[in-house]
Parts: sequence; structure tokens; C-alpha cells
Amino acid sequence: MPDLQLIHGNCIDELRKLKSSSVDLIIADPPYNLGKDYGNGSDSMSAATYLAFTRAWLQESVRVLKPTGSIYVFMGFRFIARLYSILEDELGLQFNGWICWFYTQGMGKTRGFSPRHDDLLFFSKSDKFTFNLDDIRVPQKFYRSRNNMRGANPGDVWEFSHVHYCQDSRTTHPTQKPEGLMERMVLASSNPGELVVDPFAGSGTTVRVCQQLDRNCIGIELSDEYLDIIQSRLQQPFAGFDSIDPRMKRIPNDLNDPALRQEYKHNHIKWFLSHHETELQAFEEEFNRKYPARVTL
Ligand SMILES: C[S@@+](CC[C@H](N)C(=O)[O-])C[C@H]1O[C@@H](n2cnc3c(N)ncnc32)[C@H](O)[C@@H]1O
Repeated sequence: MPDLQLIHGNCIDELRKLKSSSVDLIIADPPYNLGKDYGNGSDSMSAATYLAFTRAWLQESVRVLKPTGSIYVFMGFRFIARLYSILEDELGLQFNGWICWFYTQGMGKTRGFSPRHDDLLFFSKSDKFTFNLDDIRVPQKFYRSRNNMRGANPGDVWEFSHVHYCQDSRTTHPTQKPEGLMERMVLASSNPGELVVDPFAGSGTTVRVCQQLDRNCIGIELSDEYLDIIQSRLQQPFAGFDSIDPRMKRIPNDLNDPALRQEYKHNHIKWFLSHHETELQAFEEEFNRKYPARVTL
């Protein structure tokens, strides 16, 4: 069982209490300073105060990261450019990726384009960072005939739906992230038994994902109301993560040989649908539709 710690407090103070070079991965989803109501005023600062706050928690984050460690930071449009500059120019981290989280539902604008993505910056402390590509590949359109049989690199545009109000894992937190997003970062940038820190735990998405993927995790959150939500979320029976990259359901078009088809089907479930049990039935149905069993008389 992984060690999961929930800490009630301000992440700057709480990160200060952690040992230097002790953390493998930080997943940070701070308030974007766009005026969301988290019940604690944390999303409505002046620009200068917000930037000072951002520098302070990032400095502590860099101190606690191991030399092989990585940090992913979510950010909205208003501060993303300045965040990039703080991470690269001021903190001297190594840039690894600017990921676009694309979602199909969201607020509709009547003047201007409706926002359909958030950004995620991925930096590491050195060029010796962990990156488990085989654990996060996505299925190929063509299997044997092209590329790597194990699947393709998912790229830097990630599609995951928001968690819908009718889903069991949906809480009352206003900016709950899909578990599939955190799953990809945790699998790519940490190993089982390592330590992940989420300084802005919110509804506990990162902690829940770490619980299921056997990573130790520290989640820090300012509001005790959200800590209660996390506690009860961690007690819920697990029936699969609440979101999946639609490409994970893709079935290659060239599985013409029956033996290869069976081998592929077995591998697909193991490689792409582990921790996504709710998708298994739909996958079986789609597989049978695409490759109907031939009746021989
Ligand atoms: C964008 S939300 C995180 C959502 C989370 N990723 C999830 O999936 O539920 C940011 C959270 O940071 C918390 N927060 C704001 N300022 C904080 C601080 N200084 N220290 C710790 N938590 C803070 C807010 O209360 C809010 O729950």
C-alpha cells in the first residue's frame, strides 16, 4: 500500500518542511488567478502578488525535487508566458514539454472563441529525468505494418473530457481535473514506490491516482473542506479512472491474421486499458464489430 499524506496548510509553508532533493515528481495545479471561488480568496490576487506567490512556491518545489525529478504545472492563459519564464530563466529548470490539455466541453463565448484548452508546462531539474515512454504509449492505427508494435508516443496535445456531474468520482470542487491526465504524468515521470507531491491538492485527483498506481503521495490543500472530500474519495471502491484519452480505444485496421488478432487484443487490454475497467465492455464490442467472427460451415 502506498503512503498517502494529506496536509492542511499553505503549500509554501508546508513545502519548506520537506527535505531538499527528496521528491521524484511534483504535479501542481495552482489557482490560475482568474477569480474562481475556492472559498479562500486564493484566486483573486493582484498580478504582482500572484507572481510573488508563484515564485515562492516554485522555489520551494525546485529545492525539494531530486536531481532526476520533474515538475508539471497547469496554468491558464493569463500567466502561462510568465510562468514559462520563471521556470526556465529564473529557476534554471530544463524544458521538456508544453502540453495542451484539449477538452470538448466548456464555457461558450458569444464574442470571441470559446476556450477549449488549458496548458501544462513540463520541466525537470536536469537532463537525467525519468521518462517511462512505454507506460504511456497510445495504440497505433496500423499495428504490424508500421512503427512500434507497443504503440505511439501520445504527443503534446492530450484530449480528456472534464469529469461530468453524473460520474461517481465527481466532487463539488469547482476545478476538479480528470484522473486520466494525472495518470499519464504519474506513469511517465515516476516509478512505483516513489514520492509524488501535489501542492494544490483540491479534490485530490493526484492523490487518488497515486493510490491506484502505487506511488507515495503528499497532497497539500489550504481548505479543510476539500481535505474532507479527498478523505472520502480515497475510501471509494476503485472501478477504473474516470477519464481516458479516446485514442486508447483505437483498434488497429490491419489485424487480419486471427492469431495476431488474439495476441493484439490481449496486449491492448494490458497495455492501454489497465486501470480503465469501465472501458472493457465497449472495447470488446468495438473489437467484435470491427473483426466479426467468421462462421465456417
Ligand atoms: C486548481 S485547484 C486544484 C484542483 C485539483 N487538481 C483537482 O483535480 O481537484 C487549486 C487548489 O489549490 C488550493 N490552494 C490555493 N492556494 C493554496 C495554497 N497557498 N496552498 C495550498 N493550497 C492552495 C485551492 O483551495 C484549490 O483547491
